[in-house]
Amino acid sequence: MDTTTADRRIIVALDFADRPDAEALVARLGDACGSYKVGLELLTAAGPDLVRELVGRGHEVFLDLKLFEIPNSVAGAVRAAGALGASMVTVHSMGGTGIMTAAVEAAREFPGLRVLALTVVTSMTGSDLADIGIGADPDEQVLRLARLAAEAGCDGVIASPREAGPLRALLGRDPLIVTPGVTLAGVTPAGGDSDGDTGGHARAGSPWAAFGAGASHIVVGRSVTRAPDPVAALRRIASDRGGR
Ligand code: C5P
Repeated sequence: MDTTTADRRIIVALDFADRPDAEALVARLGDACGSYKVGLELLTAAGPDLVRELVGRGHEVFLDLKLFEIPNSVAGAVRAAGALGASMVTVHSMGGTGIMTAAVEAAREFPGLRVLALTVVTSMTGSDLADIGIGADPDEQVLRLARLAAEAGCDGVIASPREAGPLRALLGRDPLIVTPGVTLAGVTPAGGDSDGDTGGHARAGSPWAAFGAGASHIVVGRSVTRAPDPVAALRRIASDRGGR
């Protein structure tokens, strides 16, 4: 497989319950997709071999482990991700500096592995934050956590498209800003409803808006994986940001 021409800044989320469904989508996208996100559902159902195989076929794999554990366990999980050949792994910045530093140090032995900090998951609203005792609104909280992540040495952050601009201004040119919560106009992801709901993304935005605001990568799930023609949907996403 030759994925060298695929735009690796567009990461397709393999949110499937089993390996055959994931493999069917990967086969369908073929060379058109260079980067996949594997999350807890598929990793748990299909096991790590799938990640090794994707890497072996030339894909980059973002292993979305969303780590929030004691530093020793975080470090172990990051090393395991590095040994699988993952390119990106996530840690919750809400867990504090200790676990982010542990992740960054563990990743040092894997030069291709980048540690990304989750700030506020895109489904959370101000009232969700208030429920867990955080008085800041999501925008403030995202910036606060991103600053903490940068100080801990993380390679970048995960944030909603709406937050990409303020984050780029805060972090400067180099850090990665990876944005899920990307939807295409006129496409309602499965799980969303017909009255404009965005499939669980409280702070969604278009691919063009995300890249334009400074995102380095976007993560797209159901808009591609549940589309009748996933290759066409992926092309639409690439052209939404003006093509390559
Ligand atoms: O909604 P979509 O299918 O495009 O989701 C792709 C990825 O975006 C998911 O794997 C999930 O990790 C992330 N996501 C998120 N916040 C949401 C919904 C999805 O971060 N509210």
